[in-house]
Amino acid sequence: MSRRRPSPETAPRHDGAEVPDQPHVPVLLAEVIETLATAGGLAVDGTFGAGGYTRALLAADPALQVVAIDRDPTAIAGGQALVAASGGRLRLLHGRFGALDTVLAEAGLAQVDRVVLDIGVSSMQLDVPERGFSFRNDGPLDMRMGADGPSAADLVNEADETVLADIIYHYGEERRSRAVARTILEARRRGRIETTAQLAELVAGVVRTEPGSHIHPATRTFQGLRIAVNDELGELVRALHAAERALRPGGRLAVVTFHSLEDRIVKQFFAARSGRSAQASRHLPGGPVETIRSFRLVTKGPVLPGEAETARNPRARSAKLRVAERTESDVPEPLAALTALASLPDAARGGHRR
Ligand SMILES: C[S@@+](CC[C@H](N)C(=O)[O-])C[C@H]1O[C@@H](n2cnc3c(N)ncnc32)[C@H](O)[C@@H]1O
Repeated sequence: MSRRRPSPETAPRHDGAEVPDQPHVPVLLAEVIETLATAGGLAVDGTFGAGGYTRALLAADPALQVVAIDRDPTAIAGGQALVAASGGRLRLLHGRFGALDTVLAEAGLAQVDRVVLDIGVSSMQLDVPERGFSFRNDGPLDMRMGADGPSAADLVNEADETVLADIIYHYGEERRSRAVARTILEARRRGRIETTAQLAELVAGVVRTEPGSHIHPATRTFQGLRIAVNDELGELVRALHAAERALRPGGRLAVVTFHSLEDRIVKQFFAARSGRSAQASRHLPGGPVETIRSFRLVTKGPVLPGEAETARNPRARSAKLRVAERTESDVPEPLAALTALASLPDAARGGHRR
């Protein structure tokens, strides 16, 4: 597969006559479908969203069965028309992709041929102010993709200053994280911070954007909080291991990411599981680590969207696709180093600051 492709006029068309228009434009669709082409079998779409990948998978292979998962009950409700139109080929399950093998087991399924993950939030989640993801449209400070667990308001109003600073620094990559956390703590003394606009205004008071930049000063802070509220990196690490357990030999795992924190996790997982880390470690003290080859790389580097796609859909600009194929090898131990990559350093657990 080439690394930058003209895309995706060639994307398989879906037969969506009976289903509503897609509110979310799928990213790297043609590339994902091309790499996952099968003759029959069972595919898992771990991030159903508006069903863009699922529709295209069903259309591309009339013998394929699809199990689609989403943690957002709204996405599950929105997909019922597609389930009805699928002639029994689509099952839509509410759950987290981090537990995808458990979700499959509960549905009476074990091994699968394809797993695709399109990490992050959907346009529907971003665009509805009540979901609280956006600083452009004021709404309650929520940011939960599912309906459970603490919201962003809980975190912003209750977390220690150190923990907030670490979340904003490590998950948001915001260099002014300490100043943002301090400002939040000061504002908390005057009352609860309840809305996205309130928080965005506080952040804009201490973060300046580069002259000429179109990025809102609160972008990185919101990203950090969203990742923490949904444990997005922990979910990704668990999903990679769960897919490794669920895929049969020859089965493929395709992951689309949207920022470097996610891509680094996928890249390191595939490198470690395809024996590349072992090659790199042969010069280290203690010699090479044990060679593990539970995957073979299908994409040697990330597949990026072509210019036509990014012109049409600016959200695609930072997308990266990586694909690997499951080998015959037994399932190795989970990679502890990846869990560390997904976690905050010591501060959140009461240890030292960076
Ligand atoms: C980028 S959208 C997917 C869009 C989809 N590929 C399409 O074409 O319509 C990501 C979706 O994944 C869901 N999601 C995010 N994290 C999840 C998790 N840990 N488990 C299950 N679903 C998750 C979100 O709720 C959202 O609906």
